[in-house]
Amino acid sequence: MPDTALQPALRTFVRSLPKAELHLHIEGSLEPELMFELARRNGVDLPYASVDALRLAYAFDSLQSFLDLYYAGAGVLITERDFHDMTMAYMNRAKEDGVVHVEIMFDPQTHTARGVAMETVFAGMARALRKVRSSMGITSYLILSFLRHLTEADAMATLEAALPLREQYKDLWIGIGLDSGERGNPPGKFARVFARCKALGFRLVAHAGEEGPADYVRDALDLLQVERIDHGVRSEEDALLLQRLIDQQIPLTVCPFSNLKLQVIKSMPQHNLARLLRLGVMATVNSDDPAYFGGYVVDNYIACAEHLGLTRHELVVLAQNSIAASFLPPEQKNEHFQALSAYVAENPDKKNPPRGGFF
Ligand code: ADE
Ligand code: ZN
Repeated sequence: MPDTALQPALRTFVRSLPKAELHLHIEGSLEPELMFELARRNGVDLPYASVDALRLAYAFDSLQSFLDLYYAGAGVLITERDFHDMTMAYMNRAKEDGVVHVEIMFDPQTHTARGVAMETVFAGMARALRKVRSSMGITSYLILSFLRHLTEADAMATLEAALPLREQYKDLWIGIGLDSGERGNPPGKFARVFARCKALGFRLVAHAGEEGPADYVRDALDLLQVERIDHGVRSEEDALLLQRLIDQQIPLTVCPFSNLKLQVIKSMPQHNLARLLRLGVMATVNSDDPAYFGGYVVDNYIACAEHLGLTRHELVVLAQNSIAASFLPPEQKNEHFQALSAYVAENPDKKNPPRGGFF
């Protein structure tokens, strides 16, 4: 799926553009090769003969058809080292894509339900992320996400099980999210647990308007008080909601390859990212579950350039939005904005020179 036809110069430019990735499920970064290695290491049987056979199974017709495989694949993650190795593999790949900051979602219920301790999950990811922060200078935050197909009581119990670790991981764990099967699991189901998380001072996000209706986006804002919407592409179906997203500059973390692979859209040219961006929505581009959807963050940017006609300037705006929509403190955002504008100034667009403005 990643484009090879588009001018290599644009890919090179986008790769080195400083950007944040704000919608990434760490379990969705588990590449088949590593999944097989962890299965062997842990004596877990995978129902596929080879890496190629597993990849062939990645043909989805809905969010649920993907989630079934994704939760099964996470079954190879048992030890602290497994969580470390998976996280390190993603961070190495993110570095190649010019990612300077990442906000990583993880699903503890997928692991604790199998008997893996909450501490094991945190410890493995944190060891990798702290190492990468000092060795590569890439910063990261963790967003603990509740599975919406389970009950609110289960989410509350998961929160309580994680809270004793908050102090130990306070440099990383800053947010709470909501993911898994959207249809039939409206945001309102989690209103009390999100209220508790807000009172505890966590930053809040939720998947909404991916497969579910625009109403779920409004409910995520009104009933859960989230600051950012994961996906949100179906917001376009409600003109009032769309205007609110624009007026309040509520960020959407859009994942084009994910939408294509899960058949939210039928083809890339049908994606509404360019329309949303041009209407003034604070849209960002992200990879969601790159090991399953055929591309990392830069692949997503390039596919948008090719299929939606995004200009180089619009790609820069997407990177700028990713920094603006992050949960970084203002000083760190400003450093990234400066690096971004310096990079753009050092790499002028010879075909379309800027006519003034920030870039
Ligand atoms: N968990 C991992 N990827 C997801 C997605 N795209 N939507 C909902 N839950 C998810
Ligand atoms: Zn997601």
